[in-house]
Amino acid sequence: MNITRPLMRALLLLAALAWQPLAQAQAGSYSAKGADTCLECHDDESATYSAKALFKTPHAQPGNKRSPFGAGGLQCEACHGPGAAHAKNKKAASINTFKADSSMPLAERNATCMACHDGTSRTAWHAGAHERAGLACTDCHKVHQERDPVLVKAKESQVCASCHKQQRADFQKTSTHPLRQGRMACSDCHNPHGSGGPSMLAKPTINQTCTSCHAEKRGPLLWEHAPVAEDCSLCHSPHGSVRNALLTKSPPLLCQQCHSSAGHPAVAHTPNGLPGGSGPGAIYLVGNSCSSCHSQVHGSNHPSGAKLMR
Ligand code: HEC
Ligand code: HEC
Ligand code: HEC
Ligand code: HEC
Ligand code: HEC
Ligand code: HEC
Ligand code: HEC
Ligand code: HEC
Ligand code: HEC
Ligand code: HEC
Repeated sequence: MNITRPLMRALLLLAALAWQPLAQAQAGSYSAKGADTCLECHDDESATYSAKALFKTPHAQPGNKRSPFGAGGLQCEACHGPGAAHAKNKKAASINTFKADSSMPLAERNATCMACHDGTSRTAWHAGAHERAGLACTDCHKVHQERDPVLVKAKESQVCASCHKQQRADFQKTSTHPLRQGRMACSDCHNPHGSGGPSMLAKPTINQTCTSCHAEKRGPLLWEHAPVAEDCSLCHSPHGSVRNALLTKSPPLLCQQCHSSAGHPAVAHTPNGLPGGSGPGAIYLVGNSCSSCHSQVHGSNHPSGAKLMR
């Protein structure tokens, strides 16, 4: 760059001058009586707002110093920002509405929540797909409701599925995890606030996520089946499948993706080896399944389990 120092200083000064009035206007001042000021006008209820419900939530604990309604807290304005000007002019543009068209930009709205909630489960928010995709905390969280639906296991998935249509369809399939029954939720496998793992999984890898519940599939085993130790999703679709046991393909096809050219399975690919054929391979496709003999697809601890048959 070939910019001289004086020119740079002048530019910086100009930038500062242009910024200052804006910053002042945005900072504003807080209302004199806190929530009492706001409640003079906002004591009614609507679909997205209820003061009464808010007062039943953890945000209104008077005994909690960290809560907006704790001693010295900014009450409504802890979230909505300084509201003295708004209480005079009654314009939505002079307060943070938390809507997409709010005068407060998205990053600042999220920062308002994060100011109190940057703890443990959200340390990866800024690396996560939801932050990158421009989501607001309030796309999922409803703070003016007595019980935030997304925190209720049986309702969480509906919130997620409102955007994730593909996954919603997957969970309607015949084989799936019990989300529709309310026994599980998306957040049993995902951290919606972002994570260090792939696809915002709750654990660092797919297998660690799966074996956190299916512990019996976790190695080490005497005879491991390589793909199982590597990645459960080589054979299972986590969200749903029209096949038995969430399988991505039905055996023998499932197995023959990898076992096509070594040992007896190769026979399955010759006309004689196909079901109805007369070749020596046919027996291996009886019942369309390799697992009628190789029943221990996930590996075996049996001394003679090398071929995954016991
Ligand atoms: C003197 C009455 C009055 C007071 C006091 C008042 N407001 Fe408002 N507020 C209004 C009116 C009227 C609107 C609707 C403006 C519009 O629709 O353009 C509004 C709109 C809002 C909105 C946006 C609602 C929407 O539909 O987008 C929020 C949020 C809000 N006020 C919060 C507050 C908070 C927080 C306080 C206290 C700091 C407060 N208000 C104090 C009258 C008031
Ligand atoms: C913990 C943060 C928080 C606190 C505290 C809070 N609000 Fe809100 N408020 C929100 C959010 C977020 C929304 C947007 C709707 C939603 O997601 O629940 C909202 C929505 C509103 C709206 C309605 C906007 C609309 O769509 O109609 C009004 C009015 C409002 N708040 C007023 C208040 C008043 C008055 C108080 C104090 C009694 C208060 N809020 C306290 C976060 C807060
Ligand atoms: C002034 C601090 C403060 C602000 C600002 C704030 N919160 Fe909270 N929030 C708390 C405290 C305190 C709790 C109670 C739990 C705790 O002690 O951590 C809480 C609880 C929650 C909970 C759990 C509620 C439950 O029922 O268990 C959610 C979700 C939440 N806040 C979301 C938000 C969102 C979204 C925003 C921004 C719109 C926000 N908070 C703004 C302090 C705050
Ligand atoms: C994609 C939806 C989604 C978004 C966006 C989201 N959350 Fe959450 N949040 C959840 C779900 C689901 C839970 C409950 C399960 C869990 O803790 O993982 C939760 C739990 C919480 C809790 C209570 C439990 C805890 O970890 O303390 C707080 C507080 C919270 N979220 C704050 C935030 C804040 C702040 C933001 C914005 C930076 C945010 N959330 C964005 C879905 C979301
Ligand atoms: C407001 C819409 C919206 C809601 C609600 C929402 N998401 Fe998302 N989600 C997105 C967008 C946009 C992306 C990024 C683009 C994509 O991958 O589809 C995304 C991405 C993801 C990803 C992929 C992450 C990656 O790294 O590839 C996961 C997993 C996810 N969301 C889970 C959830 C869960 C769990 C919930 C509910 C707690 C949820 N989402 C709620 C919009 C949403
Ligand atoms: C049993 C665990 C589990 C549950 C429950 C679950 N997911 Fe996933 N999800 C995964 C795994 C594992 C991946 C990664 C798949 C891969 O990378 O091959 C994934 C990937 C995703 C992706 C990235 C795109 C894709 O399909 O690869 C999105 C978006 C997503 N999940 C959303 C959701 C939503 C929304 C829910 C709840 C309705 C949900 N998931 C429930 C395990 C789960
Ligand atoms: C939070 C716990 C949990 C996690 C994490 C989890 N599962 Fe499950 N899984 C379950 C439950 C509960 C069932 C249903 C058992 C029942 O219905 O009796 C199940 C069932 C299954 C089934 C049998 C489905 C059927 O139709 O018979 C397969 C296969 C499966 N899970 C694979 C996985 C894979 C792969 C992962 C990782 C992507 C995973 N699970 C993660 C709890 C979990
Ligand atoms: C090589 C393919 C393959 C891989 C990789 C694989 N599975 Fe499976 N899994 C299967 C087959 C085939 C079945 C159906 C067995 C049956 O019909 O009895 C099954 C069934 C299941 C079941 C339901 C029946 C039972 O045994 O409990 C669960 C749970 C399961 N797998 C979890 C996992 C987990 C967790 C992983 C990763 C650690 C994994 N699977 C990796 C092929 C695989
Ligand atoms: C993603 C690829 C993949 C899939 C799918 C797969 N396998 Fe394997 N399988 C392997 C690998 C790699 C080995 C280890 C081969 C070796 O050590 O030479 C193996 C080993 C085996 C062995 C032991 C072989 C030996 O020489 O000891 C058997 C038996 C077996 N698989 C059966 C199956 C069955 C049955 C299925 C279907 C349910 C299946 N495999 C699906 C990759 C796969
Ligand atoms: C009727 C029982 C039976 C069926 C069905 C069967 N196998 Fe086998 N498989 C065996 C036996 C027995 C061995 C051990 C052969 C040996 O030790 O020489 C074996 C060995 C293997 C091996 C190790 C190869 C080797 O050279 O040692 C693989 C891989 C394998 N089978 C995969 C499959 C696949 C894939 C299918 C489905 C297409 C299948 N098997 C169906 C009985 C069966």
